[in-house]
Amino acid sequence: MDHGISAVEPIDTARAGSPEPNVSGGVVRTEALRKSFGDNLVLDGIDLEVAAGDVLVVIGPSGSGKSTLLRCINLLEPLDSGRIFFEGEEITRKGTDVSAVRQRIGMVFQQFNLFPHLKVIDNLTIAARRIRRMPRAQAEARGLELLGRVGLTEKAGQHPHQLSGGQQQRVAIARALMMEPHVMLFDEVTSALDPELVGEVLIVMRDLAREGMTMLVVTHEMQFAREVGDRVIFMDEGRIVEQGRPVDVLDQPQEDRTRRFLRRTLQLGDSLEDLDIDEVAIEVGGGGA
Ligand SMILES: Nc1ncnc2c1ncn2[C@@H]1O[C@H](COP(=O)(O)OP(=O)(O)OP(=O)(O)O)[C@@H](O)[C@H]1O
Ligand SMILES: [Mg+2]
Repeated sequence: MDHGISAVEPIDTARAGSPEPNVSGGVVRTEALRKSFGDNLVLDGIDLEVAAGDVLVVIGPSGSGKSTLLRCINLLEPLDSGRIFFEGEEITRKGTDVSAVRQRIGMVFQQFNLFPHLKVIDNLTIAARRIRRMPRAQAEARGLELLGRVGLTEKAGQHPHQLSGGQQQRVAIARALMMEPHVMLFDEVTSALDPELVGEVLIVMRDLAREGMTMLVVTHEMQFAREVGDRVIFMDEGRIVEQGRPVDVLDQPQEDRTRRFLRRTLQLGDSLEDLDIDEVAIEVGGGGA
């Protein structure tokens, strides 16, 4: 898939996903990840690699370990065994600067987790100002630019409860981009949304992918997987059952378990191809006007 920088690029900092030189072994690589909760084996030997600028879509039934996988990569869960490499460096070894790693790995969850008492712009800037000691003016300039990218410039001064779910999730994505992550992890970010709000969030993610961001995306949105994913992984019971190009995994799955899962979840929506965020935001009464 073409991840060239042909899209309009406002300013340099928007290139949050620009690959660093040190990524020959993939931006993220995992080796034999194993993780149990009590005697529940949740990750049973996960090996994967995400190349710079690639979008890896992870699908699989509930409980198959998808969220745990993302949480392990972001060092939110300790592993039982295995190793994780980020831009060539093992981040699961002792002495890793966890905070520095997390600043480079953006994560967005199903629940938006915005601070309810803070304005949208302050939700975006608070971490940069506190953790990075970024001056307020600089943080706000960057925050506004990112709000523009997700089609929500006009919402900067509002509080989260004044926004729709789709708008809040777009704010959460913009917030994750504030730290200039080199990879973004998305965990079912559209699952809590009303159906008519799903598209505006997927469009933002698609645009991010087009701009070259490296992404790991757990989703049930098969249309997204098909159109935006470079590779798809199907997980079941803590293992990668099948992986490959979206057209292959989704249209000609080799494994029975994959076939059964896809039959259950097939959701074919409209094509994302020709939409852009401003149009959709206006259509749903969102950030456009
Ligand atoms: N903090 C935890 N403590 C105990 N068990 C957990 C914890 N987190 C997850 N699990 C268990 O690990 C297994 C995998 O959970 P996980 O959330 O990774 O699955 P998932 O594929 O993301 O599912 P879903 O599609 O429902 O989000 C499940 O059996 C779950 O109950
Ligand atoms: Mg999950």
